[in-house]
Amino acid sequence: MVNIAQIGVGYWGPNLLRNLVANQRCKVLASVDIADERRKYVQGLYPAICVTKDLDDIINDSEVEAVIIATPVATHFDLAMKALKAGKHILVEKPLARSVVEVEEIGRLARAHHRVAMVGHTFLFNTAVRYVKKLIDTGELGNIRYIYCQRLNLGRIRSDVDALWNLAPHDISIIQYWLDNPTPLSVSRRGVDIIQNGIDDVVFMNILYPNKIMANIHVSWLDPNKVRSITVVGSKKMVVYDDMADNKIAIYDKGIDRKAVLGENMDYDNQHFPVFNYRSGDVLMPRVDFQEPLRVEIDHFLDCIEHGVECITGIEHAKKVVEILAATVN
Ligand SMILES: NC(=O)c1ccc[n+]([C@@H]2O[C@H](COP(=O)([O-])OP(=O)(O)OC[C@H]3O[C@@H](n4cnc5c(N)ncnc54)[C@H](O)[C@@H]3O)[C@@H](O)[C@H]2O)c1
Repeated sequence: MVNIAQIGVGYWGPNLLRNLVANQRCKVLASVDIADERRKYVQGLYPAICVTKDLDDIINDSEVEAVIIATPVATHFDLAMKALKAGKHILVEKPLARSVVEVEEIGRLARAHHRVAMVGHTFLFNTAVRYVKKLIDTGELGNIRYIYCQRLNLGRIRSDVDALWNLAPHDISIIQYWLDNPTPLSVSRRGVDIIQNGIDDVVFMNILYPNKIMANIHVSWLDPNKVRSITVVGSKKMVVYDDMADNKIAIYDKGIDRKAVLGENMDYDNQHFPVFNYRSGDVLMPRVDFQEPLRVEIDHFLDCIEHGVECITGIEHAKKVVEILAATVN
């Protein structure tokens, strides 16, 4: 049984708290929020949890072994460092911090204190995302050619970070996971700030990876439709992962190959007059059992603490995501 405290119970925090309370392997001792209304919310739902606005109440409590941080991004670094210095394990919402230097510092402190530092890249605990990873790893899709993501909706607008830093951590984290954490050759972004000066509401990000693999990420909180879709084009098959659909994964047996042609010189691929073969076969929608990703994520955090399991969203993964986010300028 791991004793836990949670900092921040705003929009996203309640989802974490609900899963923590439901998990038999941990006990939520306390919750910290600077907003009176949010503390009242927690008190009303979970009377057994101590609520406080004073961070020191949990930092100085030796019974608290692990801290969940679900506050705005600008606060992640300070809160994570304070918790680690006090010897607590940490699970911090995405992105882990605002710069690579901050992520590295958190990593150094976690190593020095032998503590788990994990970031809440929720989608790596999503069964559909893991299903696509298997399709890629087993070679069913062939060589990956390109990936494009759309994460769009009307709202929720933030003022502390732009749409890229708020939404793209999910897509970058998923792509890095699918491709085994490669280092991009180049990263670029183009965005526009329409509603608030200096805060882009819509961004198109382009990442070029080795082996000519290209990724494009389109994020926006100024869009008529809620879209959560990723298309992966492979040399053998193509996949659309639509997180809004009932059948989240569709595997298309489609592609274009160059036809081998017997030429004058017994060459089977005439360079001057290439012939193409268009394949358009079945579409398969496999059944993917749903498990709430946050539940799986919290179990993984507890496995890392209790059994020393290697964290799949640890410092290395978090650092790559922040590196890619920070590498981009308009
Ligand atoms: N994994 C996901 O799918 C997902 C979805 C939404 C948000 N998030 C992440 O969760 C984090 C929080 O986002 P949100 O939308 O819930 O924000 P929010 O602004 O709605 O909530 C933040 C809460 O933290 C409290 N708070 C702020 N500073 C504090 C401090 N120093 N000490 C204690 N409490 C403090 C605020 O009072 C508020 O209740 C962000 O990092 C965001 O990126 C993740």
